[in-house]
Amino acid sequence: MTRKPIIAGNWKMHNNSVQSKELIKGIKEKVKEFDADKLPEIVVAPVFTSLAAVNEELCHCGCGCNRVKLAAQNVYFEPKGAFTGEISIDMLKDFEVSYIIIGHSERRQYFGETDEMINKKAKVILDNGIIPIICCGETLEQREQGVTDSHIAKQITEALKGLSAEEVAKSVIAYEPIWAIGTGKTCDSTEANRVIKHIRSVVEKEAGKEAADAIRILYGGSVKPETIVEQMAQSDIDGALVGGASLKADSFADIVKGAMAK
Ligand code: 13P
Repeated sequence: MTRKPIIAGNWKMHNNSVQSKELIKGIKEKVKEFDADKLPEIVVAPVFTSLAAVNEELCHCGCGCNRVKLAAQNVYFEPKGAFTGEISIDMLKDFEVSYIIIGHSERRQYFGETDEMINKKAKVILDNGIIPIICCGETLEQREQGVTDSHIAKQITEALKGLSAEEVAKSVIAYEPIWAIGTGKTCDSTEANRVIKHIRSVVEKEAGKEAADAIRILYGGSVKPETIVEQMAQSDIDGALVGGASLKADSFADIVKGAMAK
């Protein structure tokens, strides 16, 4: 089973539209030199207010030259209405987003997102022909208590509830241990691979072997150009969700390059 790797940059709450445009131009300039046959899927997730500016820089001509795809960092599951501050799937479709990140630990921690909400979001995203990047991960406390695997199994089981095997197969999961996010402390690659294999076994239980073999599972948490080669060498790591190191064209392009060996 070959799964096309993904290197996705989560820009979080950084960059206004001018800065976003500058960054995407820099990334495009770097990756255009790379061998197209070996390129992973390259995805960037700017803030909502920069989606238009970044989208303008991306090619949608269908000629195959579109090396970078657009993602949103969140979506609300209701189609419209009195939900001040939220954004609907239809609004995101204006910007031709290919992916939407859901359930990031920062959304769960600071904005009270629950597994049930994440499941509703996954359904809305898939119903609209877009791919969810479903995040999961444990806190340091949970890791120390030895409940990492059961916690993640619960997050994934709840997120995938009611999805068909085909929908699961095309989805993406990002395993992001919370203690590794923004700390510089990358999770040991073999341990990240072990947890990702565990996630795959949970997916198999929920949606069957075919879906488990097809779904792409990324690692996230202090990914850097120096860590990516070893991470990508693992059997079950299909790419990376990158925070800090995606904010500079050089380091993001170096991560893309590092992933090309897979
Ligand atoms: P860092 O790469 O900055 O640790 O962030 C990871 C992350 O949260 C990506 O979604």
